[in-house]
Amino acid sequence: MDVCAVSSSKSAKPAPTYFIGKGKAEDMREIAEENGADLVIFNDDLRPVQQRNLEELIERRVIDRTQLILDIFAQRARSREGKLQVELAQLNYLMPRLTGRGIELSRLGGGIATRGPGEMNLEYDRRYIRRRITKLREEIDEIRKHRALQRRRRKTRYPFAVIALVGYTNSGKSTLLNSLSHSHLTVEEKLFATLDPTTRKVHLPSHGEALLTDTVGFIRNLPHHLVAAFKATLEEVTEADLLIHVLDCSHSHWEVQNQVVLEILRELGAGEKPLVTALNKIDLRPDQSERRRLQREFPEGILISALKKTGLEELLEKVEKRLSENRKTVELLIPQSDGAMLASIRRKGKIIREKYESSRVRLQAELGEEMIKRTERYQLRSVKNKTKKMDYRARRDSKNE
Ligand code: GTP
Repeated sequence: MDVCAVSSSKSAKPAPTYFIGKGKAEDMREIAEENGADLVIFNDDLRPVQQRNLEELIERRVIDRTQLILDIFAQRARSREGKLQVELAQLNYLMPRLTGRGIELSRLGGGIATRGPGEMNLEYDRRYIRRRITKLREEIDEIRKHRALQRRRRKTRYPFAVIALVGYTNSGKSTLLNSLSHSHLTVEEKLFATLDPTTRKVHLPSHGEALLTDTVGFIRNLPHHLVAAFKATLEEVTEADLLIHVLDCSHSHWEVQNQVVLEILRELGAGEKPLVTALNKIDLRPDQSERRRLQREFPEGILISALKKTGLEELLEKVEKRLSENRKTVELLIPQSDGAMLASIRRKGKIIREKYESSRVRLQAELGEEMIKRTERYQLRSVKNKTKKMDYRARRDSKNE
């Protein structure tokens, strides 16, 4: 899609008929005609009546911000849930736009504002849409239950720390996921390339492992009803143990983008989560004084280039440090026969001391909450939080061996 002209207008209040003034709308028709534009996009939400009036006056297809976002989401949705969520949001968007005569719709889930020949045109009436909305909600509920179950299973089988990559669209999240996990996702320089979360395993510097999840790119003024519609994607954010905020510090509006992301996180109830800021695309800001300024503004931020793979080790060290803030040091006495437990501890925790004693291994390790629970029966004492009960249980276990 090529942008042939951009026009802006300032007004205190949207005009009821055309959203913009009539004169401005007529200018737009001229601009569209001169440039042979097929489509006019408004960077605001239009009321259904305004959209119809504009289409009649400009004699071209007119779409608003929500429709554009929905069309992009529709192109990117990969999972079943993602597709259903998009269809649901599209139908909710269409409902008030249906006129008594019914409407010719391009096939849902199609391209951006396409209505080309060869597409299946569907006649929807309100009743049909209502039934479909109910059905979609049921299916989404079903998938959600299943998802929650899968997540629980995944947590018990691989109770790694879960890290979610968040950030403004195009900030470099997928690139970072690739670079950190050495996997090969398709990296697209397009909006919302990551509607569906993608999860990879990463190795932390001191031999632990974590699950890294990519999330949909955030954007400014994401209509509130879309945030709800894409909650499935963002659930990963609320459930993560830690967030890496990928900030494109080469962007002219990076400060605004930073605020937008923090604001959305707060809206999602994830404002208090441990967060590590990765100041990405630092390769595009080679000026040393600028870098120093950035670092002053973000003393906690880590300068990285996801593309050139610089600063990644430091980023992971920081991540590991933040994760370990929730950890406790415990002493364990584990029978060598429980190889699975020993392997889990090695994978998920950090071993400080290790000593083999006949049929058992004595360990001092830093563990997260989940592993602390799982190793309870082997705990001698928690170094930081001494519990008599555990002491007793461990002594009893060692006596019985
Ligand atoms: P969405 O899916 O839209 O949310 O984007 P994203 O945040 O996943 O961004 P993505 O990884 O797709 O990167 C967007 C563009 O930025 C791509 O063209 C990348 O090659 C480029 N990019 C990512 N990281 C860097 C970097 O460190 N330096 C430079 N120069 N370019 C980068």
